[in-house]
Amino acid sequence: MPLPTKVKIVDVGPRDGLQNEAVPVSAAVKIKLVNMLSEAGLPVVEAGSFVSPKWVPQMAASDEVMQGITRKAGVDYPVLTPNMKGFEGAMAVGAEEVAIFGAASESFSQKNINCSISESLERFAPVAEAAKGKGIKVRGYVSCVVGCPYEGDIDAAKVAEVSKALLDMGCYEISLGDTVGVGTPGKVQAMLEAVAKVIPMDQLAVHFHDTYGQALANIYAALQLGISVVDSSVAGLGGCPYAKGASGNVATEDVVYMLNGLGIETGVDLEKLVQAGLYICGEIGKVPASKVSNALSAK
Ligand code: HMG
Ligand code: MG
Repeated sequence: MPLPTKVKIVDVGPRDGLQNEAVPVSAAVKIKLVNMLSEAGLPVVEAGSFVSPKWVPQMAASDEVMQGITRKAGVDYPVLTPNMKGFEGAMAVGAEEVAIFGAASESFSQKNINCSISESLERFAPVAEAAKGKGIKVRGYVSCVVGCPYEGDIDAAKVAEVSKALLDMGCYEISLGDTVGVGTPGKVQAMLEAVAKVIPMDQLAVHFHDTYGQALANIYAALQLGISVVDSSVAGLGGCPYAKGASGNVATEDVVYMLNGLGIETGVDLEKLVQAGLYICGEIGKVPASKVSNALSAK
């Protein structure tokens, strides 16, 4: 199969990138980051999370972020909503897209959202239903699609089952998360082939954390099977608080550089993107975890 000619990049930096960040990041800084990303041409910028502030304190001001950003026409700003309380919070600040997030691992589901997989689906159903009634787009996430920090290998059939349940609820796209970044290209392709038996490839996205340095290879393997939506995080920020040791998402800069090299269109201005990464890293006292950013900055 030929590689796609266009890829939609979903920058999850302001959410996945910052949710586990130890340094407190003000709403003003997050707002500037979201705006820099949309100005850099990202078509989707995940702006925050309406979860319990006791569980994820860094996302507590997501309402302020949503109220402060400049919403650019044609850009989507999804936020995470695990239950009706989160959904109502998101609606109160005018979110137009939400994401529900499940897992293919029972243990991870318990640690991350404090309930079993089947209970999580029961909590997501009213969110999806309410969203449909209001014309709000819903994205679905499935975590631990190739491995779990608590259970090890995960059966691709379980990934397919949970993905299908989310699709049937009305999600327009299912993002398959290698939460701990343990996947390798062969495993990723086998998992995608199993999921594609129940969900068309053009409704799937991939979401790789880069703990073992496999994310770009995994993305390439996914593109070969027809995947054309890729999640990534500016400056490679990120990690899930309930997946100890997992590093950030693959860096958006590195993904854009690879796709540029392959002649695949993203609409992203790499120079502006690098500036966004340098800005947020300056605020949290880090060096970007992006080889492309570091190489370009050293020039
Ligand atoms: P719970 O304790 O089971 O919920 O948490 P509860 O309904 O029993 O409520 C307990 C308390 O939380 C109550 O407050 C609720 O009001 C409050 P209290 O009476 O104790 O003061 N509460 C909320 N507050 C704000 N917003 C809400 C909300 N819901 C309840 N929406 C819950 C269940 C899901 C809320 C909790 O477990 C939670 O917030 N977990 C955090 C999950 C999370 O954000 N994880 C990281 C994102 S997922 C991820 O990173 C993976 C991904 O990137 C893909 C990948 O890489 O694989 C997407
Ligand atoms: Mg993630």
